[in-house]
Amino acid sequence: MTAIISAMELDLIKKKLEAYGQSRLLEGLGDPRFCDDCRAEFIKKLEGIDFDLVRRLYEQAAAGASPAGAGTDGGPEQIAPIPVTDSGKLTPEQRGQYIAAGEAIIARGEFAAVTMAGGQGTRLGHNGPKGTYDIGVAEHSLFEIQASRLLRRAACSANGRQIPWYIMTSEENDAATREFFALHGYFGYDPANVRFFTQFMLPMVAFDGGIVRDGPLSVKMGADGHGGIFRAMHAHGITADMKARGVKYVFIGGIDNVLVKLCDPLFIGFTAACGTPCAGKSLIKRDPYEKAGVFCLRNGRPSVIEYTEISKEMAEARDARGEFVYGDAHILCNMFTVDALDAAGSEGLPYHVAVKKTKYIDDRGQLAEPAAPNAYKFEAFIFDAFSRADNMGILRVRREDEFAPVKNREGEDSPDTARALYESARERGALD
Ligand code: UTP
Repeated sequence: MTAIISAMELDLIKKKLEAYGQSRLLEGLGDPRFCDDCRAEFIKKLEGIDFDLVRRLYEQAAAGASPAGAGTDGGPEQIAPIPVTDSGKLTPEQRGQYIAAGEAIIARGEFAAVTMAGGQGTRLGHNGPKGTYDIGVAEHSLFEIQASRLLRRAACSANGRQIPWYIMTSEENDAATREFFALHGYFGYDPANVRFFTQFMLPMVAFDGGIVRDGPLSVKMGADGHGGIFRAMHAHGITADMKARGVKYVFIGGIDNVLVKLCDPLFIGFTAACGTPCAGKSLIKRDPYEKAGVFCLRNGRPSVIEYTEISKEMAEARDARGEFVYGDAHILCNMFTVDALDAAGSEGLPYHVAVKKTKYIDDRGQLAEPAAPNAYKFEAFIFDAFSRADNMGILRVRREDEFAPVKNREGEDSPDTARALYESARERGALD
C-alpha cells in the first residue's frame, strides 16, 4: 500500500522545521530515487521528533552547561562520602537473614530482572546486538549466559518459578535480538516470562545546531542512554506489567558484565532491609584512576561522581584505615522498587552530552566521514535516578565474583579477560 503525504501534512512539517532552523532535513525529499512510501516514512519519523527538546539540549551542549536537574540547585556542589555495607564483613547471622528475606521475596513472585541491551557496543565492534556475542565459554552468547544463570536460580528457588525477565533493546537492535531468542528457543526460558521493550532515540546534532542526516532521507538517531530505561519502561507498560504480576523489587543490570548476578537473594534481602527506593552494588576501585564512576553524596543525596569529574585529590584520598574515601565504583548493578521505577519513568532524567564522530550528508549531498568529532549525542545515565531518593543502600561485593565486563575488542575489559574471569568463577563454584 502506498502511503501518501497530504499537502497539508507537508506544509505543517515544513513550517515546523523552518521555525526550528532545521529546513535542511527536507533537502532530499525531491530526490527522484525515492518512492512515495520512503518519503512518507521519513515525514512520519520527523513528526516523531521532539524539536523543542532537541533545541534545548543543543543549547545546553553548546553552552557547555551541566545537565539540568542532575542534582544541582545552582549553588556550589557539595560532594561527600556515602556509607557503604561491605558484604565481606557481614556476620553469618546478617548474611543468613538477608538471604532468607531475598529468597522469600523471590518465592512470592515479587522479584523481576531487567537486562539493558540497547547499547551500540561501538568499542567491541561486533556485527549484531552485543548480547549475541560469544566469548568462547559453554554458553554461546552473553544472552545465554544470563538466561542460564536466571534459570539455575529459579530451579533452586522454593517453588521453581521462572523469574520474569525484561530486556531493553534499541530500535537498531530490537528485531535482531528477538530473532536471536527465537532461533535459540529462548535458551529454555518460557517466552511468556520474557518481554522485550525498546528505548527511545534522540537525533544527533552537529556543532552548528543542524540535526545530522546520514542519508538523503534519514536522520542520524542515537539511543538515549541507559538512563532512558525509566521512560521506556513507563511508556511501554513494563512497570504496569510488573505490578500486575505482583513484582515489588527489580534488578537492573547491563548485558556486558558476564559475572552479573541478575537474581541475588543477598542483594534483594539487603535492599528490602534498607527500605530505600533503590540500592546499588559497588566494588573497590583497582587504583585511584580506574575509569569508573564512584558512589558519593551530592548535595546530601546519593549520586555517582564520574571519573571525568573527580579531582586528583578526591580520587587519591584515603581514610584513617587506608581505604579510599571515594573508592566504591558503580558497576551498573542496581535494584529499584517498582514504585521508584514508576516515579522516575513519569518524570524522566536529565540528558548528558557526548561529543561523537558521525557520518553526515555534506553540502554537496554526499555522505562524508569526518576526521574529528562533529556532533553531540544526548544520553541519560541510570545513576541520575539515585538522587531522587533521600538515601540508598550500597552493598560492596567482590570484583572477582561479580564483575567481568566486555567492552573492548582486545586488551582490558575484552572477551579474553571476561572469559578468564568467568571460567575462574565457574571453577570456584561462584556462578550460582
Ligand atoms: P556502555 O555505556 O558500556 O555502552 O553500556 P555500550 O553500548 O555497551 O558500548 P560502547 O560504549 O558503544 O562501546 C553499558 C550497558 O548499558 C547498556 C548497554 O547495552 C550495556 O549493557 N546501554 C547503554 C543501553 O541499554 N542503552 C544505551 O543507550 C546505552
